[in-house]
Amino acid sequence: MLPESAVREAEIHAAEHELYPPSPEVVRSAWVQDWESIARRAEADPEGFWAERALELEWFSPWNQVLDDSEKPFYRWFVGAKVNIVHNCLDRHMKTWRKNKLALIWESEKGEVRTFSYFALNREVSKFANVLKSMGIRKGDRVTIYMGRVPELPIAMLACAKIGAIHSVVYGGFSVEALHGRIEDSQSKLAITCDGAFLNGKIVELKQIMDEALKRSPTVENVIVVKRTGREVNMEAGRDLWYHDLMGLPIANGKCETEVMDAEDPLYILYTSGTTGKPKAVLHVHGGYMVGIYTTLKYVFDIKDEDRWWCAADPGWVTGHSYIVYAPLLCGATSLMYEGAPTYPYPNRWWQMVEKYGITILYAAPTAIRGLMRFGEAWPNRYDLSSLRLLGSVGEPINPEAWRWYYRVIGKERCPIMDTWWQTETGMFMITPLPCVALKPGSGTRPFFGIQADVVDEEGKPVKNGDEGYLVIKTPWPAMLRTIYGDPDRYVEQYWSKYPGLYLTGDSAKKDDDGYFWIIGRVDDVIKVSGYRLGTAEIESALVSYPAVAEAAAIGLPHDVRGHTIYAYVLLKTGQAPSDDLAETLRLHVGHEMGPIAKPEKIIFVDKLPKTRSGKIMRRVLKARAMGLPEGDLTTLED
Ligand code: PRX
Repeated sequence: MLPESAVREAEIHAAEHELYPPSPEVVRSAWVQDWESIARRAEADPEGFWAERALELEWFSPWNQVLDDSEKPFYRWFVGAKVNIVHNCLDRHMKTWRKNKLALIWESEKGEVRTFSYFALNREVSKFANVLKSMGIRKGDRVTIYMGRVPELPIAMLACAKIGAIHSVVYGGFSVEALHGRIEDSQSKLAITCDGAFLNGKIVELKQIMDEALKRSPTVENVIVVKRTGREVNMEAGRDLWYHDLMGLPIANGKCETEVMDAEDPLYILYTSGTTGKPKAVLHVHGGYMVGIYTTLKYVFDIKDEDRWWCAADPGWVTGHSYIVYAPLLCGATSLMYEGAPTYPYPNRWWQMVEKYGITILYAAPTAIRGLMRFGEAWPNRYDLSSLRLLGSVGEPINPEAWRWYYRVIGKERCPIMDTWWQTETGMFMITPLPCVALKPGSGTRPFFGIQADVVDEEGKPVKNGDEGYLVIKTPWPAMLRTIYGDPDRYVEQYWSKYPGLYLTGDSAKKDDDGYFWIIGRVDDVIKVSGYRLGTAEIESALVSYPAVAEAAAIGLPHDVRGHTIYAYVLLKTGQAPSDDLAETLRLHVGHEMGPIAKPEKIIFVDKLPKTRSGKIMRRVLKARAMGLPEGDLTTLED
């Protein structure tokens, strides 16, 4: 299917029979000790399984139906119940000893530390919620959050959720056009940003990018700015306000009622790239999402009160939403949040923090593991990593070589690796091991309790074990996206129309004889660069917005560290001459429009792009050519 399938196939072949059974010590203390019995029970009665998990949390009033599938694929969970996820993240803990427990440890790239107990986090969130209310933000209003990795980011998200506003976090690595598009689509009333962010020893000019993006966004009435770098920034009178000024006002008091929400009321939107067109706003809700992420974090990473959890993702992506901000608080856990890059100023940064804070569970992306692996074992070996008991991987397939390094050098062959497959749309882990499950390097093992997945062919029929096909989900799950905000037709079209009744993931995969799933990669026009999800359409439209460019096609090619890297094929307008300077200008232009992660590694000028007779660019052909692989079926090629 994919040109790079052969590469992944070889990896899978090598690792398919390499089994890592769990150690009795790991199993003995785990929440789940017997996978089979719970899996069987959840398969027989998924609604009963989820309802029991939901009862571990607090509801203002109960549901009258666990799952309503009368208008599928618009599924509804915990119908009729009243709840607020923030009540379970914060308010609930104020009644117990946990109010004095550390909720968040934050360390900056330069090594500054800030800590928040549950009590302190609740106070800051309540204060900011009062600020938002005083600025006229109400239930259902959209708020765009565009910040670096600072504690004020989760505080802002939680404050929005507390009063029922819908947050739309835009990853701080995105730039002007990407930010503008997301603000415009969400019609946000308020934006929250920082004067700048530190990353890799450099400053990202967040406020300046926000100012540019807002030039064409009339809906935003105010901008709240968190001071992080202390550099001089433009503050527009009447529009822009400093976070610390607002938090010092009497209105910002530490008591604020948590809004009573319907279980199906929106919690947030998060833009993600799909097939064709603009990024789409995936919508998650308060009730089912809460139950799904709470249960998966608790069971998969076996969270206990004595743990110190570190999800090393960015809060601006779904991994951060679910497993830095919401789920750890739902579980009453202590988390670490780190501002910077793993290798700045030295590649010891992560291992130093594992030792310093006694991290017990580390959840990271394969690209980061591969990046750190390059620097050799001496860096981690200088630190005491014995506090670690579990490791995790997310965002893209982890190649067995990186898996083994992570297992041996970081986990000292003691710590099982939870390779969790999921998506912005799924909200929660979907295919994942548990500590009690035997592992194979590079496989997410089997679907989580109550989830049914399969690998199917073009017609939607299950393929034989060992054959590649489309990964689909066969049953609804509580944290599933509810729709594309403002575009329900696209929700149906994108996920539920290829095979009615089956959720289309956009990934290809295979299943082995043990029922273990192996993800191969995206089959649509999504490119994963360093685990970040980008759309070919966005990169291409950034290129075409440059005056000299007539047409463009972007593809992702396999890369040792980043997983994929972007190559862009550019057709210039007549009269324009290709040159190295122009190629560099175009790279910078994409960086300015979309953000540094989207900058193509290479720009290739061409006279023609391979297209189907109906005019669709055949990226598959470009990719096969670039990789020196067979071009496959060319019968649909225009000439
Ligand atoms: O292709 C799969 C890959 O990431 C895609 C989802 O990207 P996003 O919505 O940005 O969410 C990333 C974080 C959950 C999937 O369609 N992917 C994610 N996790 C894995 C993975 N591929 C292989 N193994 C994983 N563990």
